[in-house]
Amino acid sequence: MPTELEAVAAEAAGCTRCRLHQSRTQVVFGQGDPHADLMFVGEAPGFHEDRQGIPFVGPSGQLLNRLLEGIGLRRQDVYICNVVKSRPPQNRDPQPDEIAACRPWLDAQIRLVDPKVVVTLGNFAAKTLLETTTGITRLRGQTYPFQGRVLLPTYHPAAALHAQGRRTAGPSPLEAMEGDFRVLAELLAAQAPVEQDRPTEQLGLF
Ligand code: URA
Repeated sequence: MPTELEAVAAEAAGCTRCRLHQSRTQVVFGQGDPHADLMFVGEAPGFHEDRQGIPFVGPSGQLLNRLLEGIGLRRQDVYICNVVKSRPPQNRDPQPDEIAACRPWLDAQIRLVDPKVVVTLGNFAAKTLLETTTGITRLRGQTYPFQGRVLLPTYHPAAALHAQGRRTAGPSPLEAMEGDFRVLAELLAAQAPVEQDRPTEQLGLF
């Protein structure tokens, strides 16, 4: 019996709710632990993701892997998906009607994976989930309540890669992301049940 998430993924694989189905190679639904405490939501599949059917496998994905490793996590510990499940042609921005058409898939993923913490990568994911027009530069640097969870917005890895080698007045986007991942590690530690030594009285030994 497929799980509900697998059944939704199978249904999404044939999705024709927006024009992107005409140009995609395949739907890129999501990957990772179906019960992860931590979910990443990116923008849309790029060239490599469209070919392989897996989110964040290109250069952005390699940076995401490095950032995860930096806080002691592996890809298989988390769940990774995108706002839009089909690659926009030439990696153009997803259009509002495409984001709206794809939204039920994302909502199902959030409901079924049921993460404690959602990290949005870049402008589109943050704006979509926080239902705001405010851009990522102003949104990041704090957490937001989101459907009984915690949402942490950070830059898109592609933005950090793009800015590499350029001079910036403050911290570079990569440095900002590294800082956000340190906050993420603290958030996850705060969510995790702590194994404590209980006094023997409480163990009922007396
Ligand atoms: N950029 C994204 O937003 N998502 C991917 O899966 C790959 C690149």
